[in-house]
Amino acid sequence: MKTSISVKKVIKRFGKFKAVKDVSFHVYEEETFSLLGPNGAGKTTLMLMISGIMMPSEGEIIVEGYNVSKHAVKVKELVGYCPQEPIVYDILTGEENLMYYAGLYGISRSEARKRAWELLELVGLEEWGRKQVKKYSGGMKKRLSLAATLIHDPKILLLDEPTTGLDPAIRREIWNLIDNFRSENRTVLLAAHYMEEADILSNRVAIMNEGEIVAVDTPSNLKKLLGPYALIELEVRKSTVNLAEKLSKYSEGGQVLVKGEIFKLYSRDPDNVLPRIIEEVIKAKSKVVRVHVTEPTLEDVFLKLTGRRLEE
Ligand SMILES: Nc1ncnc2c1ncn2[C@@H]1O[C@H](COP(=O)(O)OP(=O)(O)OP(=O)(O)O)[C@@H](O)[C@H]1O
Ligand SMILES: [Mg+2]
Repeated sequence: MKTSISVKKVIKRFGKFKAVKDVSFHVYEEETFSLLGPNGAGKTTLMLMISGIMMPSEGEIIVEGYNVSKHAVKVKELVGYCPQEPIVYDILTGEENLMYYAGLYGISRSEARKRAWELLELVGLEEWGRKQVKKYSGGMKKRLSLAATLIHDPKILLLDEPTTGLDPAIRREIWNLIDNFRSENRTVLLAAHYMEEADILSNRVAIMNEGEIVAVDTPSNLKKLLGPYALIELEVRKSTVNLAEKLSKYSEGGQVLVKGEIFKLYSRDPDNVLPRIIEEVIKAKSKVVRVHVTEPTLEDVFLKLTGRRLEE
């Protein structure tokens, strides 16, 4: 597999604060790679550096063989960056927005118009191309913004939280679009804070927290980091003793995560452990309200690696 993006020992400082702390990773050609992390993890800062908009304080970034700090113009041709906030003008129509972006890349007007309408169709906005963007919904603006990112037919797409703030149905539509980019042999680097988004769309995921990458692997290998463990969720009422401590001996690694009256444990053998857990709850003069056993998700992996939750 050929490497498309190489991030090598990159540090980004804002004054004394380190937003990105010695981060290294590679993205292969034609792969969808996600940076998954909560607010403030450093995802946007990394994307801005990879697209050549912001310079690293230390380290280097190579995109398709070009050092981003030295060949910013070349890198801008190769990369399409879709920022977190839609980058479209309300007073212009969809078509005019795309024509404007085409102009920035020096595309001729006739070519730009053709490309604009192809892209409007691609993102399902062909009926809306002549309407002002101020009439668009949030999801439509996001789709137009994705179309603008594709205007110069970039080989690499950097998509910064493409579905944050959108409702689940629209989110799914956008996931389909992103999945199509992959079948067009584009390389996609995605910043996500929905674990489901990273899980569904990516070949590999880098889990980020406070400026660091804490793990990189395929979603299924990351879940195996927890061991082939099942997650046992237990909701109780009126616990009289420190139940978490009592339950810790049934959880792999002794780890019990508590949120209010909900307890989470990991087990290789939930069938055997579950009756004993329930017994323990009864002994604590508490009541089991709900039990749920699931395979781990990337959210659980994140929690395990960082002790924090992804989606607060
Ligand atoms: N220009 C700046 N000056 C100072 N601090 C900054 C600047 N840009 C980002 N930061 C800080 O760097 C950290 C990383 O920010 P960044 O926007 O990269 O995070 P993120 O992972 O994209 O978060 P979100 O999910 O909220 O978009 C944050 O603590 C942020 O406040
Ligand atoms: Mg961000």
